[in-house]
Amino acid sequence: MQWTSLAALALLAQHAAAQFNMLRFACSQLVVDRVDPLVNPGMTYTPHLHQIVGGDSFNVTMEPVEHDLAGQSTCTSCSFAQDLSNYWTAVMFFRSNNGSYHRVPQIGNGGPQGQLINDGGLAIYYIPSGQTTAFAPGFRMLIGDAANTDASKVDQANICHRCWTSPSESQFVGGAPCTGSDTAEIPADPSCYMIRQTIIFPACWDGVNLDSPDHQSHVAYGQGSGATGGGACPSSHPVKLPQLMYEIMWDVSQFRDQSMWPTDGSPPFVYSMDLGGSAAHGDYLFGWEGDTLQRAMDNGCNLNNDCPAAGLTAQQPAQYNACKIPQQAPEPVDGWIKQLPLGDGPANQELM
Ligand SMILES: *[C@@H]1O[C@H](CO)[C@@H](O)[C@H](O)[C@H]1NC(C)=O
Ligand SMILES: *[C@@H]1O[C@H](CO)[C@@H](O)[C@H](O)[C@H]1NC(C)=O
Repeated sequence: MQWTSLAALALLAQHAAAQFNMLRFACSQLVVDRVDPLVNPGMTYTPHLHQIVGGDSFNVTMEPVEHDLAGQSTCTSCSFAQDLSNYWTAVMFFRSNNGSYHRVPQIGNGGPQGQLINDGGLAIYYIPSGQTTAFAPGFRMLIGDAANTDASKVDQANICHRCWTSPSESQFVGGAPCTGSDTAEIPADPSCYMIRQTIIFPACWDGVNLDSPDHQSHVAYGQGSGATGGGACPSSHPVKLPQLMYEIMWDVSQFRDQSMWPTDGSPPFVYSMDLGGSAAHGDYLFGWEGDTLQRAMDNGCNLNNDCPAAGLTAQQPAQYNACKIPQQAPEPVDGWIKQLPLGDGPANQELM
């Protein structure tokens, strides 16, 4: 091959790599707790259980702007030390044929972009497409509907589940997130070793409101779908944001034996609302230090690497795993429990 075409190929490769630069990093569980400062501020023993990751200033009440996540946190359970945001989702339970429940463990993602190490928790992505404007202090949003039971109402290009038929999280299964045979519902299939849940947030903002009454209408999806960084924004929501995406690897390998599954036809896996995948949802409270996220997007910071141009430093797993807070709604959530943690006040006070 001639030098010129080799050089052209190298340039092309460089261009492609630059184009697909994005942040992708691990966040470990800060706490698994019945609190939700976005939907149920001030409440403990909220209607269902969440797993929360990110800055340790997380609390039952977090007034927008007034609660300075970056200023008030002393550590973060996420890889980048500058990310004091909070991210949360429902948790998944296995229901055994004797009626007891066990929380499904979560492990770090693997795949072509490298192994992420976490202690529970999830993988977070910030995917830019073109010039993006980072979230403003006080910004928050949620997607999904925690009460929905109708799979046809789920925007399946943005919230989906994949049956991970490989016993290894590092052996990639399937194509782009929320494509192919990915489903709105949680797969109930003994061939799944893991179930990967994807939650892709809208990447267009109205440019004015940090929040909205439903926590959703100040943002909108752009053209196109999936984890592409989002296409052109509608005129109602003209400001292009980094596309936020959560990926959770639910490790169901210890629950594959169908002799443990419910015999009454009820699904083996449910979210903490006692509902299926149609009720999947994700919540976000922006809390990066200063303009670090904007600089990360502008400078093409990539994956979970240190990025001096934006002042990003990646912590070691031992550091971010050590960032934990106690439950503010104390109740058992691990091991075999008699019932899901639902309703007013603590559940499962008598341990099994
Ligand atoms: C939560 O807020 C209360 C009331 O402001 C405060 O006393 C408490 O220390 C906060 N907890 C955490 C973990 O920051
Ligand atoms: C229920 O079933 C699970 C799975 O087989 C088992 O580990 C657990 O001990 C059982 N609990 C009771 C109360 O029988």
